[in-house]
Amino acid sequence: MQVTPPFDLVIFGGNGDLAMRKLLPALYHRHRAGSLCDDGRILAVSRSEMDRATYLNLAREALVAHLGSHFNERDWEKFAQRLDFHRVDANAPGHYSGLAMVLGENTGRVRVFYLSTSPDLFMNICRNLGQAGLVTPESRVVLEKPLGRDLESARAINDAVGEVFEEHQIYRIDHYLGKEAVQNMMALRFGNSVFEPLWRRTWISHVQITVAEQLGVEGRGEFYNGVGAMRDMIQNHLLQLLCIVAMEPPANMDADSVRDEKLRILRSLRPLTGAEVATRSVRGQYRAGAVNGKAVSAFLDEPGIPSDSQTETFVALKAEITNWRWAGTPFYLRTGKRMPEGIAEIALYFRDMPMHLFPTVGGVPNRLVIRLQPDEGLRLDLMAKIPGDDMKLRPVGLNLSFAETFKQRPVQAYERLLGDVIHGRLALFMRRDEQEAAWMWVEPIMQAWVASGNSPKLYTAGTWGPAAATALISRDGFSWHEDY
Ligand code: BG6
Repeated sequence: MQVTPPFDLVIFGGNGDLAMRKLLPALYHRHRAGSLCDDGRILAVSRSEMDRATYLNLAREALVAHLGSHFNERDWEKFAQRLDFHRVDANAPGHYSGLAMVLGENTGRVRVFYLSTSPDLFMNICRNLGQAGLVTPESRVVLEKPLGRDLESARAINDAVGEVFEEHQIYRIDHYLGKEAVQNMMALRFGNSVFEPLWRRTWISHVQITVAEQLGVEGRGEFYNGVGAMRDMIQNHLLQLLCIVAMEPPANMDADSVRDEKLRILRSLRPLTGAEVATRSVRGQYRAGAVNGKAVSAFLDEPGIPSDSQTETFVALKAEITNWRWAGTPFYLRTGKRMPEGIAEIALYFRDMPMHLFPTVGGVPNRLVIRLQPDEGLRLDLMAKIPGDDMKLRPVGLNLSFAETFKQRPVQAYERLLGDVIHGRLALFMRRDEQEAAWMWVEPIMQAWVASGNSPKLYTAGTWGPAAATALISRDGFSWHEDY
């Protein structure tokens, strides 16, 4: 990995869940790998009253908990020297002068403001940074998702941030884009010639994108209740995956070339409105059940969730891309909490043969499964003869595990993305128009749900969602990939 230039990374919400669970561990890994320049400082800020020593204790505990055997005291000692804590109430303009003192006047140094806070604070933080004169030409701002609640609020945030930062200084993060597996999908598509002729409506009958979690809302009840699976997962992670599967090869790998192609896909999504929403989308909410043999409570009984909450914890959708390559090939998207497996994958189903010469046992025609997690890999299902006298076929998998092939610790999404921000690489971040196009597609669906007056359909925790999700895909003669 290339070593970063000198930098100051300021994390708003520096003692929050994301910082402790993801950002600090990612920075620690980069530090250990020697890819953070020695002159790189990490400044956690929050309105909590605490001193540096207390913060270091919290950070150390978090690293021990999240890094397991990758944690060691010697590296920690050195890493801790980069870390500092400073109290800033994000809404108090007066507090930013203290931050200015800490950052000093070196305007040529890379300065990253990572907003790991509720999006309600984004506008004020940016205004206050601007007014305090903290935004230098080498400054960047990182915005966590979801950005806003709908198109209008996303636009308002983008406008306010845009008054202080130029678009090329704004890094809208979607950590799925930082996953090795997602970048591998680009390698698969644009670094190999074998699939390209097949990668289209002529040969692919449909595509399934599934991101299923066994987890529930894990202490984030209040946040999640105001968001739901559509805003939390579909508007960003699943639509970004869809873009990468469906986009045309970019002219080159420059940030704007890649983002232009993704935008074209988002703009080609056929809008789902009115009555159609009822047949092409399903929203669900989990009731009590069992996951991995352990009883789990209903969403409505989770802390912070009102007993009449209409928030969805599951969404299934049928999307159509009306362009030359994909018209007529549906993309089914599905995400949910409290599913039987924790799995993220994309499955491309090839069309059936014109006729069958041999009897077959089970399975579907050829299928390519791109597995993002838990074990990153690829599986191509082919038909093969079952040994014996009869000429009988059954599907067998050609399996590739990236962990086994490369035998090295996979780089985590936040490691990659934090490095990219410091280096000033924008390709794996969402541009404003992309993000707004995603809102434009999901918003009418959410509005139709509310207008219908129907509640989310209940599903038992530990199952694959409401029966309506099975019906959604089986109406087209397909079924969800669930034989993991
Ligand atoms: C986050 C969502 O963006 O992604 C969470 O807010 C979700 O609700 C998480 O659990 C899933 O990410 P991953 O990398 O664990 O698949």
